[in-house]
Amino acid sequence: MSETKEALNAFAIDIKSGLQSSPKTLPSMYFYDETGDALFQKIMDLDEYYLTRAEFEIFVRQKEEILKAFLGEDEGFRLVELGAGDGTKTKVLLAHFLNEGVPFTYSPIDISGSVLEQLKDDLKGELPSLKVEPIVGEYFSALEALAANDTSKEVVLFLGSNIGNFDRAAGVDFLTHVGENLSSGDMLLIGFDLMKNPQKILCAYNDKEGVTKAFNLNLLTRINNDLGADFNIDDFDHFPTYDPLTGETKSHIVSKKAQTVYIEALDESFSFDAWEAIHTEVSQKYSRKMIEAYASEAGFEIVQNFVDSNQYFVDSLWRKV
Ligand code: TRP
Repeated sequence: MSETKEALNAFAIDIKSGLQSSPKTLPSMYFYDETGDALFQKIMDLDEYYLTRAEFEIFVRQKEEILKAFLGEDEGFRLVELGAGDGTKTKVLLAHFLNEGVPFTYSPIDISGSVLEQLKDDLKGELPSLKVEPIVGEYFSALEALAANDTSKEVVLFLGSNIGNFDRAAGVDFLTHVGENLSSGDMLLIGFDLMKNPQKILCAYNDKEGVTKAFNLNLLTRINNDLGADFNIDDFDHFPTYDPLTGETKSHIVSKKAQTVYIEALDESFSFDAWEAIHTEVSQKYSRKMIEAYASEAGFEIVQNFVDSNQYFVDSLWRKV
């Protein structure tokens, strides 16, 4: 069980340094415990949360063009996915590629072996003829291993709005690093949420039912459960902001009164002023110009942009130069 203990230690250390920062922050990677996963599933079904549906529509309506662009002059490829998830969106592409008789292998990469096992089982049932070679591990070591052992063309998927949760410098760094493990001509299909009516964006992060609020505040519940803290969840609120000048969307947890919280695992108390905000997540929104700059800075050129009919979301196909 030492891994669990280590993970708990890392969690405690991250929470401590976040709550000692000014302004306070809590790292969004900790949203996704069992409750967080379930709440995020509910977010994806919300009327207000357009992102997942927009990307799904792109795949359903443009799968032919996507396949054409993936193939270029080549016969087949290895389709690598960073972060496996439940594959709902990816399956649209996988099924189409199989129907077209394209020779390809699907390699989802995930840090969680159990997530990959589940996905593999599921795919075996739904798409029995699909060649699946999952890779358990960190993205970069997995990509490195592929680069060393595999000569076929690689097409890497980085879907959803994952890149929007990186700040600009970290994002460029991340994508440059992905590129370093690819060969010239390999491709990357990456999701970007576009700038749009600011009200639409705010609503996506502040739904009527309060699911997003529950998702954000679940971070405090998790600290209570895993680190023995005494956050009173009702004394905190959820507050998102969107800056239409920069496209930055931020989620905050706000302390509704002056209060002190004790965290047993740290044997330490943390004070909050009335209405003090804790920053939890950035969900960057992009203009087309920002995406172009991003691609060239990370060492890619844009092959084609696939946009949904509402122009909400783009899956941008990049080629490593
Ligand atoms: N990171 C995802 C996004 O940017 C997930 C998300 C949806 C989220 N709603 C949220 C993260 C609210 C934090 C707070 O869209």
